[in-house]
Amino acid sequence: MPLLAIVYFSISGTTEKLAHALARGADGMADVALCRITGNDIVSGRFQNERFLETIDGASAVAFGSPTYMGGPAAQFKAFADASSDRWSQQAWVNKIAAGFTTGACASGDQLHTLTYFSILAAQHGMLWCGLDIPGGEDLSGRNRLGSQLGLATHLVDASLPQSDLSTAEYLGRRLARMAGRSG
Ligand SMILES: Cc1cc2nc3c(=O)[nH]c(=O)nc-3n(C[C@H](O)[C@H](O)[C@H](O)COP(=O)(O)O)c2cc1C
Repeated sequence: MPLLAIVYFSISGTTEKLAHALARGADGMADVALCRITGNDIVSGRFQNERFLETIDGASAVAFGSPTYMGGPAAQFKAFADASSDRWSQQAWVNKIAAGFTTGACASGDQLHTLTYFSILAAQHGMLWCGLDIPGGEDLSGRNRLGSQLGLATHLVDASLPQSDLSTAEYLGRRLARMAGRSG
């Protein structure tokens, strides 16, 4: 089975719930490696967990996840992205499938900018971007609630994630796993 690596940062657990939902969606179609970035991975401002980078080396698909912080990815995720520059110079991740997911406190909390950053990171690595093929506002079960087709954007309602956002995450995980099975 192809490997899907889900690389994400989460402090209070919302992005982690999305990561786990992606993993559930991919279940049975891809092996999944959940790679949660923590503060301990960052030493003197540099991301230093080579194991995560090696996991991506062996993956066919990668999902990038971070809460939206100050209109972009969290600094901890950016430290990981900066540490991928050696892979970039070799174009070692070329043609891997990539997607992104994020969350925020507000419905329009600039989550799009975080997803845009993820897609640019993927482009820098020569990866192939996988968006969300659910038309916002048209899905009978309410998935892609915020109408974001670049990737999964969510926000907290009454301090928790709506089930429709988790269902969208499961769908994106399934789609990524399907795409990963096609590549190679
Ligand atoms: C430093 C900081 C900056 C934030 N900036 C934004 C923001 O720009 N837009 C937004 O909608 N939410 C923002 N939030 C809210 C977080 O995105 C939100 O609490 C999210 O659920 C946290 O994800 P986590 O539970 O995975 O840690 C910010 C939170 C913090 C702590």
